[in-house]
Amino acid sequence: MAVFSKDLGVDLGTMYTRIAAGDNVVLEEPTVVAIAVDEQKIVSVGEEAQTMYGRVPESIEVARPMQNGVIADYEITEKLLEYLIRKVSGASRFIRPKVMITVPFGVTSVESRAVHEAILQAGTREAYLVQQPLAAALGMDLPIGTPSGNMVLCLGAGTTQAAVLAMYGVVAAESLRAGGIHLDEAIVSHVRKKYGLIIGPATAEQVKLNLGTAIRQEEEKSIEIQAQDQVSGLPKPLNLTNDDVLEALTEPLMSFVETARKVLEKTPPELVSDIIDRGVAICGGGAALPGIDRLMTKELGVPAYLVDNPMTCIAEGAAIALDPNVYPKIKRNLPLV
Ligand SMILES: Nc1ncnc2c1ncn2[C@@H]1O[C@H](COP(=O)(O)OP(=O)(O)OP(=O)(O)O)[C@@H](O)[C@H]1O
Ligand SMILES: [Mg+2]
Repeated sequence: MAVFSKDLGVDLGTMYTRIAAGDNVVLEEPTVVAIAVDEQKIVSVGEEAQTMYGRVPESIEVARPMQNGVIADYEITEKLLEYLIRKVSGASRFIRPKVMITVPFGVTSVESRAVHEAILQAGTREAYLVQQPLAAALGMDLPIGTPSGNMVLCLGAGTTQAAVLAMYGVVAAESLRAGGIHLDEAIVSHVRKKYGLIIGPATAEQVKLNLGTAIRQEEEKSIEIQAQDQVSGLPKPLNLTNDDVLEALTEPLMSFVETARKVLEKTPPELVSDIIDRGVAICGGGAALPGIDRLMTKELGVPAYLVDNPMTCIAEGAAIALDPNVYPKIKRNLPLV
C-alpha cells in the first residue's frame, strides 16, 4: 500500500522493522537483506530474504544488519530503510516523508547518529529520534502526559528495556543488550550440554515458540526435533519437553526480571505507588511467551499485564510522536543528534 505524504513512525528492530502511518502499522518485514556479493546490489529484502537464509550460494549474502537494537552494518541498514520507505511511500522518488524513528533507551550518541544518518540517506525529508519505551507508552495510549508514573517493559529480540515515564519523558530506565534471541541461544546451549547434540538458532526459536513458557505448566508437552550429533555429525532425533525448555530459559528470563527490578529501585516512591495501582505494561515479541506476565508479577511484586498491541505499539507510538498535538510536548525529551 502506498501512503502519500503521511508522516511515518519507523521501529527499526533487531529482527523486525515496522512502519506506521497515522496510528496504524502499514509494513512489517524481517530486518534481513540478501545481497549479491560481487555487485553489492540488493537481491531481496524482508520476508523473501529471510527465506533465503542458509539456502543460497556463496555469491549471495543474507545479512541481518541490526544487532541488539543498534546498527551493526551501516550500508546494509541504509539500503534496507531506503527500500522499505519507498515501499510505503509509493514508487515516486519525490515523495520524501517526515519520519520519527526509534532507538533503544541508553544507546550512545554515535549509535543514535548512525540511525539518524541512515534514515535521512534513505530518502526522508526530516527525521527525529525517539527512545523505544517512550514510543511504546504512546502506542499503548498510557497517560504519560501527566505527572504520574507509568511503567513499560519492552521484550524485544535483541534488547530488553524497562522504563518509568511521566510528563512525556523518561524518569528512570534500564536497557539490557539481550532479548528473545538470547532465549534461543540458551536453548541451543542447553541441548548441547544436556544431550551432546547440536541445533541451529532457527530450530531453537521454533522450540521456544512451541514449548516456551516463563513459568511451570501443569500439562506436560513435548516435541520431536532433528538435531545433529556433536561427535559423529550425524542427524539424530531429540524429544524435548516444556520442562526442559523452561530449565533453559530460566536464567535469561531472570536477567529480564532484573532489568525491570533495577528501574523500580531507582523510581521515586510517589511514582512507584502509581505503578502498583496501574501495573507494568509488557510489550515486544517476548510478551507472547506464555506466563511472562505472571512471572513478572511474582518476581517484581507489582502487577504486570500484556498490552493489546505488543508487537506494533512502538512503531505506532513513533508515528503518534509526530502528531502536531504531541510533538511540541515531547520534543524536549527526544535524543538530540
Ligand atoms: N510466542 C512467543 N513466545 C516467545 N517469544 C516470542 C513469541 N513470539 C515472538 N517471540 C520472540 O519475539 C522476538 C521478536 O520480538 P520483536 O519483534 O519485538 O523484536 P525486535 O523489535 O525486532 O527487536 P529489538 O526491539 O530488541 O530490536 C523474537 O525473539 C521472537 O522469537
Ligand atoms: Mg523492538
